[in-house]
Amino acid sequence: MTVSVDHLTLPAVWLRDNCRCPECADPRSGQKLFGIADLPADLAVAAAHDDGTTVTVTFAPDGHVSTFARDWLLAPAAPDERTEDGKEFGAGLTTLSWPDFRADRTAALDALLRRGGVLLRGVPTADRTVLDVARGFGYVRETNYGTLFEVRVEENPTNLAFTGREIAPHTDNPYRDPVPTVQLLHCLVAAPEGTGGDSGLVDGFAAAALLRAEDPAAFAVLAGTPVTFRYADPDTDLSASRPLIGLDPRGRIREVRFNNRSARPLRAPHAELVAFYAAYRTFAGIIARPDLRLDFRLVPGDCLVFDNTRMLHARTAFTESAARHLQGCYADLDAVASDLAVLRRRTPVDTLADLFAGAGAADYLGEDVTQAVHMLQAATLAEAAGAPDTLVAAALLHDVGHLTGAVSGADLMAGTDNRHSHAGADWLGRWFPVAVTDPVRLHVAAKRYLCAVEPDYLGRLSAASVYTLGVQGGPMGPGEVADFAAEPYAAEAVALRRWDDAAKDPAAPTRDFAHFRPVLERVLRF
Ligand code: OGA
Ligand code: ZN
Ligand code: ZN
Repeated sequence: MTVSVDHLTLPAVWLRDNCRCPECADPRSGQKLFGIADLPADLAVAAAHDDGTTVTVTFAPDGHVSTFARDWLLAPAAPDERTEDGKEFGAGLTTLSWPDFRADRTAALDALLRRGGVLLRGVPTADRTVLDVARGFGYVRETNYGTLFEVRVEENPTNLAFTGREIAPHTDNPYRDPVPTVQLLHCLVAAPEGTGGDSGLVDGFAAAALLRAEDPAAFAVLAGTPVTFRYADPDTDLSASRPLIGLDPRGRIREVRFNNRSARPLRAPHAELVAFYAAYRTFAGIIARPDLRLDFRLVPGDCLVFDNTRMLHARTAFTESAARHLQGCYADLDAVASDLAVLRRRTPVDTLADLFAGAGAADYLGEDVTQAVHMLQAATLAEAAGAPDTLVAAALLHDVGHLTGAVSGADLMAGTDNRHSHAGADWLGRWFPVAVTDPVRLHVAAKRYLCAVEPDYLGRLSAASVYTLGVQGGPMGPGEVADFAAEPYAAEAVALRRWDDAAKDPAAPTRDFAHFRPVLERVLRF
């Protein structure tokens, strides 16, 4: 048996592999606690229930139960942002000041990832500052050239870069595997105006996409022919073989290596050599089109940062007597994407803040406090009791299911169980670990549990709470009590329940949402 949610059909092994219960995934890190071969070979779905918000699956042969948010099951696959799918074309060169970059790196990281590069202006021109800039984009990639390299005229140049010659559009270090994915060039001294040394960038993804549209056969040849690049000096002998246009397994452009200086002879049958050179020239012709090239001039304090798997860089010739001096270094895109994701991780807390300010202002089930004040008061009590961050967060968020669920708190008061504890836990599960979501999920069960095990508990409940108890199933029977007590977060759920019951006093001290922001940020998982 498989499980179907709308158009989607999921096999048992997929569902089990993605179970996030505390037995299957570590509540703190979210990491899976089993290997794929640890799952029963004859795993099957014994039963599945879809309540419109949550899908509950019971597996055979071991009886394991997993719950999934329906929305989460239906989420589309995340696209590979490193391919052409994640890119923006033709936007020009994004330029930011050094102070703006230092205040907030988001725009620069985003421009580097999606547009291929960013120009920072006003960077201090002190020696080795390019390394500080690189650290704002992740980690410096040290190579045989050192942590940084100097680009200036040398007496015995080992590289064309150390002369005054023109350098045609190219990517750097194609002889490395993995290639450095980010390059920085920081201008300390420019050649005098009018003596050359201007810069250029060409979007290699845009050029490759044009080649695919104009000459698909040539595109296929370049994507399918490995070219060996090599760099050798007395201490170094680097080589790597890669196609000029690298594709992902689905055929999307993912990398361009273009550097005739370091390409080694292609060894292949005559017909392949002819086809390769025809395609190579056609691609070079597209790369040389003036409308694909961004021309600009680096002045002292400018630092150009670009995606070396995508953007080809170039410079015009300059008079060798000029003291032109750049410092460059390499870094990598994975850290850039990671930093950007972390910077954007703030959003869930903003979403929650909006929820408290908006829907949270509604009445709380006929009590004298609003939904928001009720939850803030529960969190205030949890914090005063010295609860850990995860439990303070759970107290703060325990009733979000009333605000986000398909069925409202008003429906609950009209006699329909809105299963708000489950709906809330599922909704929060996209951001928070089980240590937050399980106490939320169990806080209604905890009321039914306490009614069963504490003789005077029911008498202390508010009238509204006694009413909803009936809708939610009444006090637990002995079997349910045992099951509840065996839940990994039973004790936390009971503690949360007591704060919940006490958080209905309009006169009690209540911290505001801003006070709890740092707590939420500390426990966010994704
Ligand atoms: C290089 C290079 C560009 C420049 O050193 O690889 O492309 O502007 N330099 O000198
Ligand atoms: Zn270069
Ligand atoms: Zn509550």
